Amino acid sequence: MAGETTGRLIGHFQNIAEEQHGTGWSELWDNGESDLWDRGIPSPALTDIVAERRDLLSPVDANGVRKKALVPGCGKGHDAIMLALHGFDAWGLEISETAVSTAERYASEQMQSPSPENFARAEVGSGIEPGSVRFIQGDFFEQDWKVNLLGEAVKFDLIYDYTFLCALHPNMRCMWAKRMAELLKPGGLLICLEFPLWKDLKSPGPPWGLQGVYWDLLARGGDGLIEDGQGERPFPAMEHVQFVCELNHKPARSFKQGRGEDLLSLWRRL
Ligand SMILES: C[S@@+](CC[C@H](N)C(=O)[O-])C[C@H]1O[C@@H](n2cnc3c(N)ncnc32)[C@H](O)[C@@H]1O
Repeated sequence: MAGETTGRLIGHFQNIAEEQHGTGWSELWDNGESDLWDRGIPSPALTDIVAERRDLLSPVDANGVRKKALVPGCGKGHDAIMLALHGFDAWGLEISETAVSTAERYASEQMQSPSPENFARAEVGSGIEPGSVRFIQGDFFEQDWKVNLLGEAVKFDLIYDYTFLCALHPNMRCMWAKRMAELLKPGGLLICLEFPLWKDLKSPGPPWGLQGVYWDLLARGGDGLIEDGQGERPFPAMEHVQFVCELNHKPARSFKQGRGEDLLSLWRRL
């Protein structure tokens, strides 16, 4: 989502009512326009941290049970597939049925014969036992898909967000944070590749500029609507804070669309 392609996305959503944005994304998939955002490979920053920080991101728990990872708004499934290839049981969630069938086809190729971009350089041939990857059609904000999938009680160990928050209308940000907290088990990790940090907060989206927004939502418990100046806003009540930031760094590798500004942040669910 950079350059003239962002103009196409902004134009597409300009006349679509906020509550119809999910349908707007499905239309783009059905019209074969996923090239507007698809990067063609998993996030290098996520691949590197999964490979290098097994202490933080082991794919199995203390009992040897595979951890459950979710990628909401997973698109073609690059990141969900990479997590499965690293031993997680991964689910990709998509509002678009076309996206789900595209991801399923792509995953069956990649799980058989993974492209090298699924691994950090030092890892190639390291013999990791893969987990599973599955794709589900559903709306992130709705309950049904999660209840059908895992039941009420079971939650995810890890959730990854890249270009999902920036695809949502700013009024949905608060709900995004609330839903992330609901879906993760206590102690679980939300990993965000923060993008686009170069874009003015007042410019139209998608992608919507997110400089300072993750921090506001997750560390401060705010509503993520910081366009008018964070300094003047009252502090939200402490019960809105459900995450603690464990790591926030500029990754050695990321996509060129991040213009060198992407940050990788890890948030532990309290
Ligand atoms: C900008 S794309 C990013 C896709 C993917 N993360 C990637 O990097 O290629 C945003 C994706 O979120 C999906 N999406 C939008 N709203 C959604 C919702 N409420 N629930 C689930 N998926 C949604 C869209 O269909 C679209 O594929």
